[in-house]
Amino acid sequence: MALNRTDRMISQFDTLLRVLVPSANEPQRASPAHTTSDGALSAEVRKRSARSVKGQYTHALCVQAIYQGQMLASRSPKAQARSLQVAGEQWDQLGWCQQRIRECGGRSASVFDPPLYVGAMASSAVLARINESAGLSFVHTVTQASHKHLERSIRHLPEDDRRSKAVFQAMQGDNAHHARQMLEAGGKSWPMPCRWALTMAARGVSLIGRHG
Ligand SMILES: [Fe+2]
Repeated sequence: MALNRTDRMISQFDTLLRVLVPSANEPQRASPAHTTSDGALSAEVRKRSARSVKGQYTHALCVQAIYQGQMLASRSPKAQARSLQVAGEQWDQLGWCQQRIRECGGRSASVFDPPLYVGAMASSAVLARINESAGLSFVHTVTQASHKHLERSIRHLPEDDRRSKAVFQAMQGDNAHHARQMLEAGGKSWPMPCRWALTMAARGVSLIGRHG
C-alpha cells in the first residue's frame, strides 16, 4: 500500500510529538520486562541501569528516525510498507525503554535526542531519494549494527538487572526481524568496514544519550 502525502504528514506530526514528549509514546505490545523480576538492585545499580537504557533509547530513536526518513523519501510502495511496519515496532521498543528508565528512577530523555533525530532522518531521506536500494541497504546495515550494539550492552548490564536485559533481548529479536524486512524490500548487506563504522556510530550515539 503506497502512502499518500497526507498519510506521511500525519505520520511525521505523530512522530514529532513522540520525540518531543517521550511519555506520549504508549507501546502497543506489553514490555517484556513485565514478566521478569529483578534481583535486589542497589540505588547505585539502578542509576547505572537507567543510564544504560537511556543510551539505548537514544540510539533506538535514531534508528526510528532512519526508518522515518526512508518512509518519507522512498518512492517504492513495498519499501514504504515495510518501513511503516518496522517503525511501529520500533515505537514499542522506545516505549519499553522509557518505562524501564522511569522504573530505575532515571531522567527519560536526553537534550540531544531532537537534533540527533533530525540528523539521522535527513541522512536516511537523502540517501533513499538518491538511490532506493542504497537507502534500504543503509537501513538494513544500521539495524544490524543496532543488534550488535545491544549484544554489547547486555554484557555490560549489572547481573541482577534482569528487567533491562529482557527489554534489550526483545529489542534484539525485533532488530533481526527488521534487518530481514529491509533485505526483502530490496536492500543489500554492506561490507564489513561499513558495518564496523555504523556499530561505532551506534556506540557514540548511545554514549551521548547516556550523558546528555
Ligand atoms: Fe529496529
